[in-house]
Amino acid sequence: MAAAGTGTGKLGHLYSLIIFLWLTLLFVQQELSESESATEDDTDQLALLSFKGAIRSDPSGAMSSWNTSLALCHWTGVTCTQQQQKQRRVSGLILESINLTGTISPSLANLTQLTTLRLAGNMLTGEIPSVIGTLSSLSLLDLSSNYFSGRIPNSIGQLSNLEGLLLFNNRLSGGIPSSIGNLSRLYECRLDDNQLQGEIPSSIGNCQKLIF
Ligand SMILES: *[C@@H]1O[C@H](CO)[C@@H](O)[C@H](O)[C@H]1NC(C)=O
Ligand SMILES: *[C@@H]1O[C@H](CO)[C@@H](O)[C@H](O)[C@H]1NC(C)=O
Ligand SMILES: *[C@@H]1O[C@H](CO)[C@@H](O)[C@H](O)[C@H]1NC(C)=O
Ligand SMILES: *[C@@H]1O[C@H](CO)[C@@H](O)[C@H](O)[C@H]1NC(C)=O
Repeated sequence: MAAAGTGTGKLGHLYSLIIFLWLTLLFVQQELSESESATEDDTDQLALLSFKGAIRSDPSGAMSSWNTSLALCHWTGVTCTQQQQKQRRVSGLILESINLTGTISPSLANLTQLTTLRLAGNMLTGEIPSVIGTLSSLSLLDLSSNYFSGRIPNSIGQLSNLEGLLLFNNRLSGGIPSSIGNLSRLYECRLDDNQLQGEIPSSIGNCQKLIF
């Protein structure tokens, strides 16, 4: 009896230990998932998934991590604002030289905290969506070395924080929009190697920071 009692006691002890460890694990898991998901933005996720939807081929599989089972700040090519902030927003989208084909989805306009957009060196086609003008935080727009066609949207003049505008080596046509004179922070502007026509707008004289 005494031996059995001790046995049960040991077993009981073991059970409490297991239950304790299990509860600890549950707690840690919840903490982890809260710090991951509670801070992500649904609109940003939708915008990125629409962006992915307009990409026809991704031969290196860079965007295979773009799925809802992974927090979007861990998606390849996506960077987010500081962890300390309540809600993490997409601040950068960098997918360069990986032979992407397809077009740029206008849904990108919903990434309102985007500061860096670099899609250089792919095989993207279609026009630069004019809704891009709503990305008021954007400081670098690099779409160079693709097959973009159509005009440079006039709305580009609304990107009041833009410092770098790199659209060289595409198939852009038409004139350079005079709204470019609105870009008071513009530092580097490369539009060469396109099919642009007409005069360089005199408003460019307003771009006082322009060096390149
Ligand atoms: C989501 O992406 C992760 C990371 O690349 C991958 O391991 C997982 O298989 C993907 N899930 C689906 C459903 O595609
Ligand atoms: C892109 O395509 C070129 C030419 O077909 C190839 O040489 C290169 O390895 C490709 N790069 C990637 C990342 O798929
Ligand atoms: C931006 O997001 C809203 C809400 O999710 C959606 O209704 C709208 O169509 C999106 N805009 C674009 C340009 O995709
Ligand atoms: C120029 O900038 C102002 C203020 O940021 C803006 O309201 C306006 O729409 C811009 N003009 C053009 C042509 O983009």
